[in-house]
Amino acid sequence: MPYTTALLVLGSAAIHFAVVPEHLREYVPFGLFFIAAGTAQVALATAILVAPNRRLLLAGSAGTAAIIALWAVSRTTGLPIGPSPGRPEAIGFNDLVCTTMEGISALLLARLATRTPRPPRPLWTAVKVIPALVPITVLTTVTVGGASNQMVYSFNASPIIPDRPSTNLQLLTEAPGSQPVKSFTLTAEVSRLGNAAAWAYNGTVPGPQLRVNQGDRLKVTLVNHLPVSTTIHWHGVPGLPAAEDGVAGVTQDAIQPGRSYTYEFVAEEPGTYWYHSHQDTGTQLTMGLYGALVVEPVGGATETRDYTVVLHKAVDANAVAVNGTTGDLHLDAGPGETVRLRIVNAFAPGMDGGPETPVLLGAPYRITALDGRDLNHPQPLGPERLPLGMGQRADLVFTMPATGVVRLVDAAEQGQTTGIQNAITSFFGGPTQRRATVTIGSGAIPTISPAELNRLPLFDLTRYGQPAEGATAGAAARPDATFSVVLDEHAGFHDGRIELLHTINGQVSPYVPPITVREGQLIRLHIVNQTGEYHPIHLHGHTLTLLDRNGARIQGSPVHLDTVLVAPHETWDVTFRADNPGIWMMHCHVLLHASMGMSMTVNYAGVSTPYEMGSRSGNMPE
Ligand code: C2O
Ligand code: CU
Repeated sequence: MPYTTALLVLGSAAIHFAVVPEHLREYVPFGLFFIAAGTAQVALATAILVAPNRRLLLAGSAGTAAIIALWAVSRTTGLPIGPSPGRPEAIGFNDLVCTTMEGISALLLARLATRTPRPPRPLWTAVKVIPALVPITVLTTVTVGGASNQMVYSFNASPIIPDRPSTNLQLLTEAPGSQPVKSFTLTAEVSRLGNAAAWAYNGTVPGPQLRVNQGDRLKVTLVNHLPVSTTIHWHGVPGLPAAEDGVAGVTQDAIQPGRSYTYEFVAEEPGTYWYHSHQDTGTQLTMGLYGALVVEPVGGATETRDYTVVLHKAVDANAVAVNGTTGDLHLDAGPGETVRLRIVNAFAPGMDGGPETPVLLGAPYRITALDGRDLNHPQPLGPERLPLGMGQRADLVFTMPATGVVRLVDAAEQGQTTGIQNAITSFFGGPTQRRATVTIGSGAIPTISPAELNRLPLFDLTRYGQPAEGATAGAAARPDATFSVVLDEHAGFHDGRIELLHTINGQVSPYVPPITVREGQLIRLHIVNQTGEYHPIHLHGHTLTLLDRNGARIQGSPVHLDTVLVAPHETWDVTFRADNPGIWMMHCHVLLHASMGMSMTVNYAGVSTPYEMGSRSGNMPE
């Protein structure tokens, strides 16, 4: 018993020491308190083993109980002093482990103090501690590792450097102009939808579709009625000014509860885009903060029917929903009418990162655009599974048949996952159970069994449509700079806990060295996926042009995307023109992966930001 007690006391001492730096930064007296507590505990543990006596053991037990009482007050009513006096702190894993160990040791100390002294026993009796040694050591190590790898305190993606002139990102706004103004208000609020609470824009998940014309000037006011701070990012919009990108801690401070903020930009290119929160994205997007943004071409929609279908996580079920419907979504269209279906994949997948693979049944169709960018001479397709990574979009165009309906059936692809990854996925809610469908028109419904569905070919964007004139020349253009982007994963400590770190070039966000570019350069990215997972890699503010997959040049239409789906162990070479000065996020759009570190920035030389991410500012872009 003395050895186990000493071990527990030492364990809590180690945890106290691990949190000292964090507390010193926040409030010096607390830091000093933890140094004192840790030191006293080391002394106590030594005394238990070397020179135990009743008074000391009782004092140790009482002292430990006092620390626990202090902790209980800080977590319930809040301490009267400190960085936020009178406000209770959140209970975390680290302090829970520490307090539990202290609770047990306080009891053991009291027990040791009250039992009749025995003659000293030989040292070999120490082996009896082994059963307790393993769990206590593991728990202490994990907790100390987490506590000493807290979320970054303050990090600036491109600080102002004295004596080096730079452009403040805040100045990179939309230039004034006489474009027709379209104004919208998006109120982010807690909403009850069905049986669940969601965070929603204007009370709906997805948020309202914003539909504008090419050339419109959008003014979107975000009103924050959430209990937390938030932002809006305009995913995929070409030419978006850097100051309007909505990334907390990079292009703005997150908007505090009760406040509002207006974004302004011109919708230069027609296409299917979307918007979502970019503050604590993994949480806020999953809670429901996203919606579609459609920019119609000059002259209006080209098809008789123009529909947007957003695939997303159902608010109250572990299922894929479409436009808020978990069952079948019905859309009207008559025989002979042309239909454009704009599919947005906003569904956050599990750890394997797999894409949704919707299938269109009942009519031949063309995929006319990917990520809002048109394809060249797309030919008609039969039923195929269309892989759409999280964040990607596809426009499907077809003519309604003389009889019967056209149907969109959602399926999914899975990465090569291991037992550990599956365990993590089930921790986050388990594999998806139900998938929604979309039925267009009325009449006989084409049916397909899940087995047949899974046997359908996968659409291959590397050999679809026709090469464009001069495109080969364009692809052969020599890049001004090439960067490798190596995606990998390994276990480690991050944000205060043990995690499956998702790395870029061996580092986790925000410590991944940025890619630095100059305006006008043609940049080539060599993206290597060393994992068995899918990684839809999204670059803000730019258009990626696909060159090679696994070293083989793409053969069909030029493909321009803002999010490239990198399948397990694939390699992609892509280029982009550095034509939009700013500081731009580039990250995996699987939110779990991004929050585990797979995120970085592309920085234009000479652009700085006054904003910082980390626990000090509360800006958490992932
Ligand atoms: Cu759609 Cu950085 O995000
Ligand atoms: Cu990923």
